[in-house]
Amino acid sequence: MDDRLIIAVDFGTTYSGIAYCFADQQNSSPIPIDNWPGANGIDVPKIPTVICYDKQNPQKFAWGGSVEPQADSISGFKLLLDPSQSRPDYVPGISIAKELQQLPKTPVQITADFIGAIHNHAIEEISKKFPKDYVQLCRKEYIFSVPAVWSDAAKHATLKAAEMAGLTPVQLIKEPEAAALWTTKKLDVALNSGDVFVVCDAGGGTVDLVSYEVQTTNPKLQVKEVVPGTGGMAGSLHLNKRFESAIKELVGEDQWSSLRSSKGFQLASSLFEKEIKKGFKGDFDDDGFDDDDEFYVNFYPAKLADNPDRGLESNTWTMVREDLMNIFNPVIDDILKLVDDQVERVKVKMGGRSPKYIFLVGGFGSNRYLMKRIVNKYPNIEVLQPPDAWAAIAK
Ligand SMILES: Nc1ncnc2c1ncn2[C@@H]1O[C@H](COP(=O)(O)OP(=O)(O)OP(=O)(O)O)[C@@H](O)[C@H]1O
Ligand SMILES: [Mg+2]
Repeated sequence: MDDRLIIAVDFGTTYSGIAYCFADQQNSSPIPIDNWPGANGIDVPKIPTVICYDKQNPQKFAWGGSVEPQADSISGFKLLLDPSQSRPDYVPGISIAKELQQLPKTPVQITADFIGAIHNHAIEEISKKFPKDYVQLCRKEYIFSVPAVWSDAAKHATLKAAEMAGLTPVQLIKEPEAAALWTTKKLDVALNSGDVFVVCDAGGGTVDLVSYEVQTTNPKLQVKEVVPGTGGMAGSLHLNKRFESAIKELVGEDQWSSLRSSKGFQLASSLFEKEIKKGFKGDFDDDGFDDDDEFYVNFYPAKLADNPDRGLESNTWTMVREDLMNIFNPVIDDILKLVDDQVERVKVKMGGRSPKYIFLVGGFGSNRYLMKRIVNKYPNIEVLQPPDAWAAIAK
């Protein structure tokens, strides 16, 4: 049989997803897997990239949404596939060598275990919608999206992990390219031939950029890369790391050593991840800033000494806009530099002409403060955030 099943794997630093389509069917558009274990029956396009090995038997592990929040889990292992990437200096306390030592397996093996698990689940899900035997017999082809800045060694490591998980053949595509294809399909913007747009995919670990020129729009949109992928490690995870160091500084070294492994800190981190970081709008208009961004971080049941000057009272830290600015700004400034570098490269290539659009995608790409800062910087470029950019890559 010659029917082909194409499976796209978006292996992300913080979240991963899978979409598939049967290549030979008319009008086949990719179908995302949205039924994942541990998601309480709610449809979700992506699951957390975490894995938790059984202490006795490292062949056994829990993954994704099934990993208990307080478990000794491993996350962020995608970044360990590329130790050559330079880490921003505002990210405190990362020692790659130390991180690698603490792992039960190599990053490639861990990645293989994780990818194998999500792939098996995807095949089970596809077999619920199409005859199992048919799915089994289809010739499978895989598409993996990798950061535009990935080194050859990291690409090789990704391929190796896929192979260990039994996924072959694999074609690699650049993450921003995958995002671009989706965005142009989804966005209601009238693209004309000759238009140039920048795609900025800001995720958990990396920020990737690439620019395209529209070749034709009829009968089908065709684009050509004008500036190759650029990017860096300025993902949203760095905000979490900076939140952590802000707390360390707030409570002082002594209290920090016990706080960091406490329930109270875990809840505070999860509040930061789920609400504070996402809700921060960094409101400003032409006259300056508004003052209503305030967030309350509770460390209960920890018993912390008050530090009223810094807003810490009764185990609750009142974070004001300035605290959040301190966390966000170095990361946002880095992203702006990356965007600027890409925009300048476009101009050089296009004889001085600026790109017409910047498409902001990825989880961090949906952040309103980031959006505002970019809009502010480029009054003559239209900046767009597609509505479901978070899950765009796999599709
Ligand atoms: N509004 C927001 N502001 C800031 N960060 C956000 C927001 N919404 C989601 N995030 C963060 O975006 C990340 C998830 O985005 P995404 O799924 O694009 O990344 P990823 O694919 O895991 O990472 P990468 O592409 O870098 O490997 C998470 O770290 C999440 O906390
Ligand atoms: Mg991603």
